[in-house]
Amino acid sequence: MIILGIETSCDETSVGILNENGHLLTNIVATQVDLHARYGGIVPEIASRQHVLNIEPVTAAALSSAGLKLGDISLVAVTYGPGLAGSLIVGLNFAKGLASSLRVPFVTVNHLEGHIWAAWVTTDSFSPAIKSVYNYEEKFHKPLLCLIVSGGHTELVLMHGHGEFTLIGETKDDAVGEAFDKVARVLGLRYPGGPEIQKLSIYADEEIEPFPRAWMAGSFSFSFSGLKTAVINRARDFGFYPYRTSGNRPEKRVLANFAKAFQDSIVDVIVKKTILAASHYDCGGIVMVGGVAANSALRNTLAESSKLPVYVPPVDLCTDNGAMIAMGGLMSYNYGSKSSMSLDVSPNLRIS
Ligand code: KG4
Ligand code: ZN
Repeated sequence: MIILGIETSCDETSVGILNENGHLLTNIVATQVDLHARYGGIVPEIASRQHVLNIEPVTAAALSSAGLKLGDISLVAVTYGPGLAGSLIVGLNFAKGLASSLRVPFVTVNHLEGHIWAAWVTTDSFSPAIKSVYNYEEKFHKPLLCLIVSGGHTELVLMHGHGEFTLIGETKDDAVGEAFDKVARVLGLRYPGGPEIQKLSIYADEEIEPFPRAWMAGSFSFSFSGLKTAVINRARDFGFYPYRTSGNRPEKRVLANFAKAFQDSIVDVIVKKTILAASHYDCGGIVMVGGVAANSALRNTLAESSKLPVYVPPVDLCTDNGAMIAMGGLMSYNYGSKSSMSLDVSPNLRIS
C-alpha cells in the first residue's frame, strides 16, 4: 500500500509518501518563506496562490523521488483544518481530484493530529521507540501526553488511543511559535523566527536578567504575550527598538543574550508545565510535536528533565510536512475511516 499525504494548511506545500508500515519513502516541502519574509509573517492570499503554483510540481517531485508513478498510489490523505481557508482549499481540492481520477480512497486529516502522528513515522535512519510502546492498534494502557507547539498552537492534549483526545490546556493568547516569530522581529531577525533565535542564542556570552515566566498557576494553560511585551520593553530601554526610529543596531552579543534569555523563559515554562501535567494525569509518556519541537534547547531540556519516556519526531518531521498527514491518513484508514468527496475545509478545527 502506498499512501500519499498532502499538506497545505499554511505556507508550506508538502507531499509525503509512506508505505503501509508507516515507513517514509519521500517527503518534499516547498517553502514560501522568502515570499513572506519581507512582510514579517504569512500573507494568506499570497500563500494560497503559491500553493496553486506548487501543488502539482511538488506531487510530481515526490513521486519521482520515491521512484513511483501516479498509478502506484493506493490512498490519498490531506489536511482539511485547522489552517488558512484559502490554503487548505488548494490541497483539499487537489486531493479530491487525484483520488477520484485514480479511483482510490481519500481520507482527511486534522493537522494537529497529523503533527502527533509524525512521531510514529519510521525513516531509513530513525526507528521511533513510541511505536513499540504505544501500539496504534490498541487502546493505550496509560494516556500519552501530547505537547503540540507550533506557529498556530500551544496545546497539552491527552491521547487515550486512536482518535481519542482530551484537551487539557492551551495558550490564552499567542502560540509559542508566534512568540518566537514576533520576538525575532524585535531583534531584527528574519521570518520564521524560531530557527533564527535558536541559532543566535548560541552566541550568548552573559546571563542577563531573566525575562518573566507566566505560570498560569492552577491550570495547564499557557500565555506568552506578556513575555513578548517584556522583550519589547527591554529592547526599547536598550535603545534598539524600533530600529527604524532609533537607527541603533546593537552588537550581535547583545541580541544573542536577549535571544537566549527569551528562549530560556519559553523552555522553562513549557518543560515544567508539561512534566507536571504528565504526572497529574498519570501518563505513560510524553510526545512533543509541531514546528517548535525542532528547537534543540526544548528537546534537550524536556528529555533531561522528564522521568517518563519523551518521544520527539526527527526535526524535518516536526515542522509542517506531508508525511505526517500520510501517517494520520493511514491510521484513520486502518480504523475504517473514509472521507466524503463533499467535505469542506475546516479552518477552525480543534482536537477532541
Ligand atoms: O508546525 P509548524 O511548521 O507550522 C504550524 O503549524 O504553525 O510551526 C511553525 C513554527 C514557526 O513559528 C517557527 O518559528 C517555529 O515553528 N519553529 C521553531 C523552530 N523551528 C521552527 N521555533 C523554535 N525553534 C526552532 N528550531
Ligand atoms: Zn503545523
